[in-house]
Amino acid sequence: MIPTNYLIIGSGVAGLTFAIKIADRFPAKKITIITKSTEDESNTKYAQGGIAIVLNEEQDSYQKHILDTLICGDGLCDKSVVEMVITEGPKRLKELIDWGAKFDKNSKGDFDLGKEGGHSQNRVVHHKDQTGFEIERTILLEAHKKKNIQILDHHFSLDLIVNDGSCHGAYVLNQKTNEILHFQSDFTLLATGGIGHLYGHTTNPVIATGDGIAMALRANATIKDMEFIQFHPTALYDDSSNSKFLISEAVRGFGAYLRTKNGLRFMQIYDERGELAPRDIVSQSIDLELKKTSDNCVYLDCTHLDLDAFIKHFPMIYERCLSIGIDIAKNWIPVIPAQHYLCGGIVVDKNGKTSVENLFACGECSQTGLHGANRLASNSLLEALVYSDKIYTYLANNFLEKHHPKNIISNLNLVKKNKINSDYILKIKIKLQLLMRQNAGIVRYDTDLFKANQQIILWLIELEKKINISQINAEIYELYNLITVGKLIVEQSIVRNQNHGGFMKFASC
Ligand code: FAD
Ligand code: SIN
Repeated sequence: MIPTNYLIIGSGVAGLTFAIKIADRFPAKKITIITKSTEDESNTKYAQGGIAIVLNEEQDSYQKHILDTLICGDGLCDKSVVEMVITEGPKRLKELIDWGAKFDKNSKGDFDLGKEGGHSQNRVVHHKDQTGFEIERTILLEAHKKKNIQILDHHFSLDLIVNDGSCHGAYVLNQKTNEILHFQSDFTLLATGGIGHLYGHTTNPVIATGDGIAMALRANATIKDMEFIQFHPTALYDDSSNSKFLISEAVRGFGAYLRTKNGLRFMQIYDERGELAPRDIVSQSIDLELKKTSDNCVYLDCTHLDLDAFIKHFPMIYERCLSIGIDIAKNWIPVIPAQHYLCGGIVVDKNGKTSVENLFACGECSQTGLHGANRLASNSLLEALVYSDKIYTYLANNFLEKHHPKNIISNLNLVKKNKINSDYILKIKIKLQLLMRQNAGIVRYDTDLFKANQQIILWLIELEKKINISQINAEIYELYNLITVGKLIVEQSIVRNQNHGGFMKFASC
């Protein structure tokens, strides 16, 4: 048993910002962050557009941002959560700036506020098109300054240690030594991010395999709204890899047009907000256009935009396009929708508490009620910042030494057994990703969902048998978690019978 006061699983914006605050508040307590890849690898690092925050109170107001969020969530947001998160934005931004994060300013010295789909005003604070990189850089530096924080990279959390409905830490695979470690903690925070690689075609990096949600489910936590998968309308169309490079929605906020191969600006047909309709509507419209035309992709036209200003705001996107022969001043960018974000997850209250005692969740793996049926652009970083502060404030005021049961028996079999065949894992993963894209994508049909459910149950039974007779490694657990999360998405899609936001289902084709 390795004792720690706070065990944080994940080193993105949710995990790190909580760690920094709790470490400051309790210098004598031990904070352990475990993370399965390098310490900076996370969805956070790739965030482009920015953080939606009301700063210009002449044109904007909290009320407008609240309304935009509620409209985007299509009737399923928790209004009191929306109000809480949005009104706390400026305070959380100030903390990031105090820790050293830099955000772009205009010639008057005010924040240069970008615009994205579903926003009625310019309110997206950003660092060029690399906002997430700047945030991750800053908070990692800050976390490293704290003597009571230990960050363990290449440590893969397998399962939570749960006894009588209470969480006491986690079983963790040290991927460097192949040992399974038992971390015993007073409080555990799941900050494990998204699920993108369940779909394969995703803007998410490979770490996004839904581990936290699957672990929480196995610990009997409540999981909700898994049917609300957000597909980003404009991932770069590129057949060479599964992880898709994102062309930020802020590019459309900057004035880019969506066109078909023949040049038609089709978004006007679907929604009067055109290219800046919420992203569920834009993705569903692209999906319809592609089905109508049988084309592989649509195009983002930036040729009419001020090139110097574009390069200043979006240097990474400009360079990436150029590297594959697309000069945005002359050529349209080929784009397709790709899985981007999960609106649902582990249900938490306004203090970030899950339904399991001493277990908290924050960031993309959690379900707070902010997003409803579809997340408003750039509300995710904001949500993580506000909720990590809520969890910190709650625990700063409610710290009690915990008593842990003496002999918790691990059901993880440590005896060395057969090595799992990695070809088998890859084969099932590819089949699973295809099944999810085809049967649980932008538009779903009950008939396909029922078929997917049957297949997923078979894979789950097969995999559980294999886990019992094989040496444990991260790959088999990631597959186990992906299948578990896929099952939740399919089951919850079957149950929902009204279309809202990012969820569009019909009985049959
Ligand atoms: P992450 O940042 O994904 O961190 C998860 C961490 O958990 C990682 O460190 C991972 O390694 C670790 N982990 C996972 N499983 C395990 C395990 N089993 N054991 C140990 N460690 C584990 N949102 C916005 O608001 N604005 C934007 O502009 C924006 N742009 C985006 C652009 C892209 C390309 C992407 C992919 C997302 C974007 N988002 C944006 C969404 C946003 O970035 C994420 O929702 C947010 O960063 C999630 O933060 P997090 O801390 O919850 O998770
Ligand atoms: C983007 O830059 O388009 C992503 C913004 C987000 O996911 O909120």
